[in-house]
Amino acid sequence: MSNAIRIIEMGPRDGLQNEKTPVSVANRIAFVERLVDAGLHTVEVGAFVSPKAIPQMVGSAEVLRGVSRIEGAEFHVLVPNEKGYETARGAGARVVSVFAAASEGFSRANINCSIAESIERFKPVLARAKADGVPVRGYISCVLGCPFDGEIRPQAVANVAKQLWDLGCYEISLGDTIGVGTPLKAKQMLRAVSAHVPAAKLAMHFHDTYGQALANLYAGMEEGVHVIDSAAGGLGGCPYAPGATGNVATEDVVYMLEGMGIRTGVDMEKLLAATDHICRLLGHPPVSRVAAALNAKKTRANSK
Ligand code: HMG
Ligand code: MG
Repeated sequence: MSNAIRIIEMGPRDGLQNEKTPVSVANRIAFVERLVDAGLHTVEVGAFVSPKAIPQMVGSAEVLRGVSRIEGAEFHVLVPNEKGYETARGAGARVVSVFAAASEGFSRANINCSIAESIERFKPVLARAKADGVPVRGYISCVLGCPFDGEIRPQAVANVAKQLWDLGCYEISLGDTIGVGTPLKAKQMLRAVSAHVPAAKLAMHFHDTYGQALANLYAGMEEGVHVIDSAAGGLGGCPYAPGATGNVATEDVVYMLEGMGIRTGVDMEKLLAATDHICRLLGHPPVSRVAAALNAKKTRANSK
């Protein structure tokens, strides 16, 4: 198991894309600033998708421009097609992510095309990114279950991963979009995928709907995967994934890793403050167990 784990912070994108309360561009930029200051140096900050599909991500160009003056950090954005790529590049994007699915049902619901059609859509994006020297990350949703198609075979995930890898994605992020996976299934899926893509080039993007995400991450780390997507406060969800809750919380991941002697470089106090600030704007508390426990501990200490 690697003791160098890379965390990709999803709060400003996945974390906010399904929230009822809109967050202004200025507050999204401030959220990113707080996260970077807490030690999270790779942050997904927006999505260049249809404003009808995800109104919460309107203003991603302004967010990206606003955060570009923050030094020492890498910012990612989602692009579903060439149009999104062009707009993202116009706003200064240096790393972009395309997103596919392991199931036909979710592909259709999320990006309105089949898996094969999505790969065709990504081809010109990858070609232009290669010419521009822009690294492209590839997501696959529903790798451990689909809200429409049910069980997903590990081989189905591996097939899509191979196609994205062959297109030139530098890393494949495997999404348990509805958080139904369990550790053994996660291992079986990762083994099937790593027959085509080296485990060191995979990332785990696990939503925590059934409370299994940390266990699944640990199982994946045992398989040699060392990149973890997580969101401050356990925010997140996708409007096209009914029943899904947020990403695994960054606080919970940091607590687990530090407890294993793996240094994350994340300042927990600053992370808690970033989460507290965004959750106040959203009008609900964080989902993170670690955030709740540490905040309660602080309240007890202050009341003495
Ligand atoms: P479509 O309707 O098939 O596309 O949508 P279209 O090409 O026919 O265009 C329809 C309209 O969208 C047109 O506007 C286009 O201009 C516009 P209209 O003429 O109707 O006014 N459009 C765009 N606008 C802005 N930016 C663009 C863009 N492209 C077209 N890039 C499309 C296809 C993919 C665009 C749409 O379905 C879409 O935007 N889907 C995005 C869904 C999404 O963002 N989901 C959440 C992110 S994925 C996720 O959360 C999973 C992940 O976290 C991993 C996991 O957890 O599993 C990554
Ligand atoms: Mg997600």
